This record gives sequence, structure tokens and C-alpha cells, in this order.
Amino acid sequence: MEHSKPSSAESPDESPPRRTFLVRVTAGIAALIGVMVGVPVVGYTILPALRRRELGWADAGPVSTLPIGIPQEREIVLTVADGWKKTTTKKTVWVVKDEAGTVTVYSPICPHLGCGYRWMEGERRFVCPCHNSVFLLDGTVVAGPAPRPLDTLPFKLERGRLFVQYKEFKAGAAKKIEL
Ligand code: FES
Repeated sequence: MEHSKPSSAESPDESPPRRTFLVRVTAGIAALIGVMVGVPVVGYTILPALRRRELGWADAGPVSTLPIGIPQEREIVLTVADGWKKTTTKKTVWVVKDEAGTVTVYSPICPHLGCGYRWMEGERRFVCPCHNSVFLLDGTVVAGPAPRPLDTLPFKLERGRLFVQYKEFKAGAAKKIEL
């Protein structure tokens, strides 16, 4: 009895490569679908959550009403984006205008351990009540454990108003390190 040879289409030698090819194509399509679905998911859910801080310019009021040589505490309202949620918080900053009209804005946080300090007009000094750090009008430390001068904040003047970029810095460090 004569056995016919299998045709080339049925050859067992060619089936594994074809199967491998189909597996690869299927895996490629699945990966492509994964990317197409994954990119928007990352864009809409994960990235906004990572963008927790949006540093905008907060309006700190008119410049013309700042007294010369006497620090003024100004209130600002910050809008912070935390993922999908937007919240507003109130902060204060200390603003100094000197005789030449030069403006300096200080963070309200003591660089020692983060307490709030105040301007004592009688002593012409900023004083922190927590551990008695004392600072001059230009922010220099003259007493107490504060390891660096008062932290200055970026600001800009627009149409007669002061706009401040609120930032926080590492407490207790000798250098100003932004958080
Ligand atoms: S926190 Fe201001 S002196 Fe310690």
C-alpha cells in the first residue's frame, strides 16, 4: 500500500513557526490596545494626582500702601490643585518696603523649626516666640538658634499690585531648601 506524502500546507515542520507568528501578532495587538487604553488612563487619573502643587501668583494687595521701613503682614489666598480637587487656603507673608522703594517678601515661617514670627516695632526686630530667634529687617539672624536668615519669596509687581509665589522651605537647614 502506498502512502501519500503530506502536502506542504499540512507539514508538521511549518506549523510551529506559523503558530509563533500568530502568537506574536496577537501579543502585539494586545500590547497596542494596552497602550491605547493605558495612555488616557495615566493622563486623566495618575498625572493630575502627581500635580499636587500649582504655584501660581497670589495677590498680596497694593504696593502703594506699604509703609516705608515697617514690615507689613499681608494675607494671600492660594489655590492648590490636588489631583482633581482644587482647594483654597489662606496664608500670610511679611512684606518690607525700604526708603528706596525696594520690596522684599518673607515667608511667615521661622527657618528654625517652623513657628510663626512677628515684627516687634519697639525693638525693630522680627522675633520668633518658640525659641527666641531674632532677625533684622533684612532677614539676618542676630540671636537664637535659627540656622539661616528669613526665607525670601519670589514676587512681581503688576499694575501697582504685589503678586507672591508662596513656597515652603526645609526647617532647621543651614541652606534654603525648597520643599
Ligand atoms: S521655631 Fe523659631 S526659633 Fe525655633
